[in-house]
Amino acid sequence: MTPAPYLRPRRLRATPALRELTRETRLHPRQLVLPMFVREGASEPVPIASMPGVVQHSTDSFRRALVEAAEAGIGGVMLFGVPTAKDARGSGADDPRGVLNAATAVAVAEVGDALVVQTDLCLDEFTDHGHCGVLDARGDVDNDATLERYAAMALAQAEAGSALLGLSGMMDGQVEAVRAALDDAGRSGTAILAYSAKYASAFYGPFREAVDSSLQGDRRTYQLDPGNAREGLREAELDVTEGADVVMVKPAGSYLDVLGALAATSPVPVWAYQVSGEYSMIEAAAAHGWIDRRRAVEESLLSIRRAGADAVLTYFATEVAAWLR
Ligand code: PBG
Repeated sequence: MTPAPYLRPRRLRATPALRELTRETRLHPRQLVLPMFVREGASEPVPIASMPGVVQHSTDSFRRALVEAAEAGIGGVMLFGVPTAKDARGSGADDPRGVLNAATAVAVAEVGDALVVQTDLCLDEFTDHGHCGVLDARGDVDNDATLERYAAMALAQAEAGSALLGLSGMMDGQVEAVRAALDDAGRSGTAILAYSAKYASAFYGPFREAVDSSLQGDRRTYQLDPGNAREGLREAELDVTEGADVVMVKPAGSYLDVLGALAATSPVPVWAYQVSGEYSMIEAAAAHGWIDRRRAVEESLLSIRRAGADAVLTYFATEVAAWLR
């Protein structure tokens, strides 16, 4: 006869109350950050077909969504601008009246006390070639010339009231360049979120539509190869040395190993970005009735937290916060 087991882990799974009490990781609304797109000159919000439920905001819909996000109690918003005109150097990026800087001022005035207003600091939304930096004569991204553009963007974003600058361009030395520019301008209180381990990912696909980007080529000379975990950890270490206040892993779901390893050693908070493609995959499967949408959303975010993210950027932020109430 088989002996009856005396080690029975199922005991703690027996009732909802026991399961609740023994759950290690939880989602909290304050640990969620909502990425938002604001379209220059739009009188109505423009739907993004590949991201059902996400829009390029008009000023009015932006204001409403900000208030809704604040009422839901999320931690912050990450703003992206969709300019009407783009050029080779991304002039709109550091123009104080440019769409992103103007939207930042609106957000700070509307919800600046309740939410941490953050801004994407990268040129790709503003360049006509769609790259994250300016190009040299050969058409390659010019790292050091790009740093000067990032420094100018940083000052414009800080001036507009952004509390945390999201450096997502993956240029060498970008954190140091931006930190120095901010400090020189008396902006030592403006913090830096470094997208340290940012991979050249297929999961950014829907984002390109979200910001009307027509990227020529790809980003493999600056974003990380998906096969490399060690390089992601090294990038984070360099960013901390250069002065990053928060480091990030992006995308999230396919890089939970990198996230876990970084969280185990990082001296600063570690965040993760559940990117556009991760959002759209859940939406698409749920629309077919193939997965339970709410459970899949919660499980995906819980897993990112369990792997070690202190906070998560997610297009589901406001909705999930409302569920958690
Ligand atoms: C760069 C940037 C990108 C995303 C956030 N910041 C695009 C890219 O690197 O190609 C992607 C976010 C997403 O897919 O949700 N400004």
